[in-house]
Amino acid sequence: MKEKQELKRHLRALLKEKRAMMLAHNYQRDEVQDTADLTGDSLGLSQAAAESDAEVIVFCGVHFMAESAAILSPGKTVILPRMDAGCPMADMITEDDLIEEKRKRPSVPVVAYVNTTANVKALSDICCTSANAVKVVSSLEAERVYMVPDRNLAHYISRGVNKKMEWWDGFCPTHENLTAEEVVKAKADNPGSIFVCHPECRPEVVDLADHVCSTSGMYRYAREVDSTTIIVGTEMGILWRLRKENPSKRFILPSKSLICPNMKLITLEDVIESLEEMKNVVTVTDDVRVKAKAALDKMLAVPREW
Ligand code: 13P
Ligand code: SF4
Repeated sequence: MKEKQELKRHLRALLKEKRAMMLAHNYQRDEVQDTADLTGDSLGLSQAAAESDAEVIVFCGVHFMAESAAILSPGKTVILPRMDAGCPMADMITEDDLIEEKRKRPSVPVVAYVNTTANVKALSDICCTSANAVKVVSSLEAERVYMVPDRNLAHYISRGVNKKMEWWDGFCPTHENLTAEEVVKAKADNPGSIFVCHPECRPEVVDLADHVCSTSGMYRYAREVDSTTIIVGTEMGILWRLRKENPSKRFILPSKSLICPNMKLITLEDVIESLEEMKNVVTVTDDVRVKAKAALDKMLAVPREW
């Protein structure tokens, strides 16, 4: 415990010395979230990176998130403390796959979930996150829309918009683990509870939810909802801040398998080492960056829905 406090102090001093801002996604280890300048969801953190006047952004999340920060903030140095922290869902579609899908439907706009590589974003018309997906798709004039890579998010959006939607067959292995049976059991074991989940969950799980939203949307929902027992259908890292901000409420994880191994890779030691050596800098080539930024900028012009 004392050692962790010491590491935090050392890291905070180092951040100051390097004029760096530390961002942590809501799924990061508790101590990483606790040390960061800001915690948030994919949308909030990419906006914060773009708006910050820090010279260095230390992004504690997974690769596509740091890459989005690098795309939006070309003048800053963006560090991902562990380069092996990837997102398996983002890797489920390649640039070549998307070129082939676009060839099949030439005039249909492509919406890329931010959980994609910069190359895939560069081939897309607009990006979205779980915090603005329905609004982004609704903002398009086209009647047909193609979405990559998450089939579950696309299915969820298709219910909220008046458009014909097609999508790539990708998924998040962590959210896919949660079954409807586990949610039904958690509800039966906790009478009076409510269930909130991320739209990356399977459709039959989403059907059981009282509310569906992004990770940061869950903090707001937990704060505002009357119920004192909340079953949470997303990665377990979210529990730390939910419990800290709502000490009188109970948060229940319906499955032991709601853990994203990639989100758990970064330790405080990794953050210190990468900052000291200024290593693991995420860069995007200019031609890709300009096209990917256009898709991200279009998304940022659409208001958040939570
Ligand atoms: P949020 O955009 O809600 O933070 O989710 C990102 C993610 O990777 C969920 O698995
Ligand atoms: Fe990717 Fe799923 Fe991990 Fe989010 S939880 S980073 S979508 S693998």
